[in-house]
Amino acid sequence: MLKRAVAIAGVLLLATAGAATASMTASPDGQDPKLIVGGTLASTTEAPWAIALTNTESAEATGRWCGATLVKADKIITAAHCMIKPASTYTAIQGRPDLSDTSVGRTSKIKSIWIQPGYNRTDNRYDFAVLTLSRPITGVPVLPLETNPKADRKGVVPTVYGWGETQDTGPADTLEKLAVPDLGDATCLANQDYTANGYAAATNICAGYVEGGRDACQGDSGGPLVLNGRLLGTVSWGKGCAERGYPGVYAQIASAAKVLQAQLAG
Ligand code: ARG
Repeated sequence: MLKRAVAIAGVLLLATAGAATASMTASPDGQDPKLIVGGTLASTTEAPWAIALTNTESAEATGRWCGATLVKADKIITAAHCMIKPASTYTAIQGRPDLSDTSVGRTSKIKSIWIQPGYNRTDNRYDFAVLTLSRPITGVPVLPLETNPKADRKGVVPTVYGWGETQDTGPADTLEKLAVPDLGDATCLANQDYTANGYAAATNICAGYVEGGRDACQGDSGGPLVLNGRLLGTVSWGKGCAERGYPGVYAQIASAAKVLQAQLAG
């Protein structure tokens, strides 16, 4: 049931990005749900490799759609599930913390889209896509990939970045960051809804707050989860956002490092 709910929510939320949605449920304990959810404002100086991926078919005025990471001057990594529209409808934007301020930042259209062949819409595994930019974003620091699967371990505290849903408690479509403790695979594997939805220790990262209140959310998908200056994971899915007992699920870069690196070489 969750599988279906998440799949539908994902498509619906992407298709109507920014609109109030079914998954914007009340937060646990009556706390206010917060930015990113629960994050703080971030600058594109501290996160120059953070890319906003907009789409002309987004319901948001800013075109907000998904996040991505600059990993080479002409390559960005995002989520496979974000790539449901023609390539010509996407724009990659660097250096624009507030998406409505079009006076700053650099943009590029998308020349080509590669979707990780192992990506499976049913179990959501290997939720990766590599996009080639028509106009390389040069002179901007890129984020190296984490290739060691052991980097994903309980107790480390990576940071997630994104322009996604704030559940109405912060500025819309503005870059936020949030430290999300790596909870270890056991936490997500203990959740039957999550195993039913395809959570896999080898390919996913379980991170966030079991008590709820802080999490990535719709519109953050594909965006970076960063640890020690490397791209540890990308925002993939979750049940709702910031709900108690349902932390964020990220796609683990190291699990696909070989094929991803091969894409960057090309
Ligand atoms: N699937 C969502 C998107 O397309 C992001 C999901 C992240 N959800 C979460 N609760 N961490 O933007």
